[in-house]
Amino acid sequence: MKISIVGTGYVGLVSGTCFADTGINVTCVDIDKEKIKKLSEGVIPIYEPGLDQMVLNNVEKDRLHFTTSLKESLEHSEAIFIAVGTPPGEDGSADLSHVLEVARQIGRHMNHYMVVVTKSTVPIGTAKKVKAAIQDEIEKRGIDMDFDVASNPEFLKEGNAIEDFLKPDRIVVGVESERAEKIMNRLYKPFVLNGHPILFMDIPSAEMTKYAANAMLATKISFMNDVANLCEIVGADVNNVRRGIGSDSRIGNKFIYAGAGYGGSCFPKDVKAIIKTAQLNNYNLRILEAVENVNDDQKKVVVKKIKAHFPDIKGKTFAMWGLSFKPHTDDMREAPAVVIAKALTELGAKVKAYDPVAMDEAKHQLGDTVVYGEDQYDVLIDADALILITEWPEFRVPNYKVMDKLMKNKIVFDGRNIYDPEEMKEFGYTYYSIGRPVIK
Ligand code: UDX
Repeated sequence: MKISIVGTGYVGLVSGTCFADTGINVTCVDIDKEKIKKLSEGVIPIYEPGLDQMVLNNVEKDRLHFTTSLKESLEHSEAIFIAVGTPPGEDGSADLSHVLEVARQIGRHMNHYMVVVTKSTVPIGTAKKVKAAIQDEIEKRGIDMDFDVASNPEFLKEGNAIEDFLKPDRIVVGVESERAEKIMNRLYKPFVLNGHPILFMDIPSAEMTKYAANAMLATKISFMNDVANLCEIVGADVNNVRRGIGSDSRIGNKFIYAGAGYGGSCFPKDVKAIIKTAQLNNYNLRILEAVENVNDDQKKVVVKKIKAHFPDIKGKTFAMWGLSFKPHTDDMREAPAVVIAKALTELGAKVKAYDPVAMDEAKHQLGDTVVYGEDQYDVLIDADALILITEWPEFRVPNYKVMDKLMKNKIVFDGRNIYDPEEMKEFGYTYYSIGRPVIK
């Protein structure tokens, strides 16, 4: 079986490589020549654990190919996945120009039946637009050609993408014909042998599922952050509250960790986009508007605590551990660290930052407004306080003796609640975290 994937970004590259790993012949297409050249040599443009080796293996086995020619990739393909970017437009709605351009090209070059699958996160109604764009081009050619569209949203988490693709909780596929369902079923069968289902449904429901899933997860996080803020006021500990509510199986214990707010390419963008879709349909998603507001404020909560502790913040030096929006990725999109570092430097403070992999990406956003350290201890030299923003494993059990020697003050602002307040007390630290009593 042969398929094509258009767009070698995060979703496209992971999907293509994982499909190839099951023995399917996959051609990945991108307009970026340099990227395609590098990928053909097994050099991948993103940081994702295990992906480089998997790309290399499948390239060597001659079942994963990279090209800039969409036309070429279409030959003998039974399915083509559109996995190009859908950046947020000025008003928060997703920009579909890349998706629809790919659809038009498919219509121009398609020479046999295939399923055209939208894999990028796209607004409800996009598959319909893709279908119309392809049909339009086919008609311009004056020919008759049968094809189907399908919607197959992706639920990958960055940093765990391969595992998520290989062992999904579920696969959601929106289809309009049995023929398309059969092809999609054949493609995904190897991934559902562990008993998790392929959920076939109508196309608008599949498109909606992606937004509803991300919006629900974002809601859980903002809800917990809101509760955490109240915990601080009433003297409760959000970690205990989390354990207390998380053991109720109706609530569940995942995605209820309070922190410095959610970031990344999906939650902020998708929450905005679904709010926009609702507004365009004269409906206000009141809960999600609140989810977004709470998250915007939550990114500033750490700054508020720092300002309260250091009323004379100008000229103070802060060490920052972690820059990426979460561990195991170099992705800096919507990262709380950016908001926090910018706010501190605007107040006249100095920020010395270290991240195990995201420093290059961080430089694109923060430039030379912050100083970048050699390692996690280097940034502690003469620091007035340490701010923990991303819970990378290496930050979890630091060498307190070394810290004591390097830092000016023993003060920690923990934006992810990774340290044990009892231990901080024992080591003589002033310790601020999220939704838990301050240790002084
Ligand atoms: C998310 C979804 O999980 C995934 O299904 C979808 O396809 C894309 O969006 P990702 O953006 O990779 O994946 O990150 P995720 O691991 O879900 O974390 C998102 C953000 O939420 C991070 O900033 C993280 O720090 C934050 N988070 C997560 C919390 O603050 N608390 C939690 O309990 C969980």
